[in-house]
Amino acid sequence: MPSSSVPGPVRHVLILGGTTEARRLAATLAAEPGLRVTSSLAGRVAAPRLPAGEVRIGGFGGPEGLARWLRAHAVDVLIDATHPFAGTISFSAARAAATAHVPLLALRRPGWVAGPGDVWHPVASLAEAAAALPGLGGRVFLTTGRMGLAHFAHLTDLWFLVRSVDAPEPPHPPRMTTVLDRGPFTLDGERELLRAHRIDVLVTKDSGAAATAPKLTAAREAGVPVVVVQRPPVPEGVPVAAGPAEAADWVRSLLG
Ligand SMILES: NC(=O)c1ccc[n+]([C@@H]2O[C@H](COP(=O)([O-])OP(=O)(O)OC[C@H]3O[C@@H](n4cnc5c(N)ncnc54)[C@H](OP(=O)(O)O)[C@@H]3O)[C@@H](O)[C@H]2O)c1
Repeated sequence: MPSSSVPGPVRHVLILGGTTEARRLAATLAAEPGLRVTSSLAGRVAAPRLPAGEVRIGGFGGPEGLARWLRAHAVDVLIDATHPFAGTISFSAARAAATAHVPLLALRRPGWVAGPGDVWHPVASLAEAAAALPGLGGRVFLTTGRMGLAHFAHLTDLWFLVRSVDAPEPPHPPRMTTVLDRGPFTLDGERELLRAHRIDVLVTKDSGAAATAPKLTAAREAGVPVVVVQRPPVPEGVPVAAGPAEAADWVRSLLG
């Protein structure tokens, strides 16, 4: 008698993405048999790097919309692999997962840790970063992205070098030069940027990304102080994986 193996049901994983880690996780899971992987992107970047598997783009319409999407597309597992500073979607994910009874994991790379020689000024928000700047320097390298530039728009005495993936729109600081670029960045490149623009203070979010960490080394070497915006918390009760491999293990253990 011929033997036949009956495949199990396909399980659906939804990854809320927009990060390198989300793309890595999608690539790992999309290669596994029996898994359907969908990545969701907010649609902020004009030409995003697309992950493996299926991709949907655009907001869900709050936690209720996301809960409806989870049910309508029979999602078995939800991974919040968004940027550590994308706080709204993370809370949306926590509420939607609870409503739709879908297990949720947050994938969060660890934050950066100051080392010897670093002069870091931790602040709780972009508004606090703006308030700290006049006491720290006059030529600012702002690497917090094009969203939120309004917080710095009143600092008319300071000059800003703003680096972002897409061009910023007003309101933004009046004295500003823009560099359109996205990581990974090299240490040599960051050293040169600080030198060429005579930067005397750097502003960054604590994204923890390896691809953007060389600016911290360059700042340390040049004795440039760094204003570091701290992360919003992960919603209470949501388990956290520090990397894509750990998140993939969690999915496997859950789905067998
Ligand atoms: N914040 C940063 O510094 C940063 C840096 C790099 C990449 N990113 C990525 O860019 C995206 C937007 O960041 P943000 O700070 O604007 O987020 P946010 O403030 O947390 O989200 C605002 C709204 O955008 C929608 N949204 C966010 N992420 C989504 C996703 N992955 N799929 C579908 N809808 C999403 C949701 O709309 P609805 O309420 O309509 O569902 C959410 O309420 C995130 O996915 C994040 O991973 C953010």
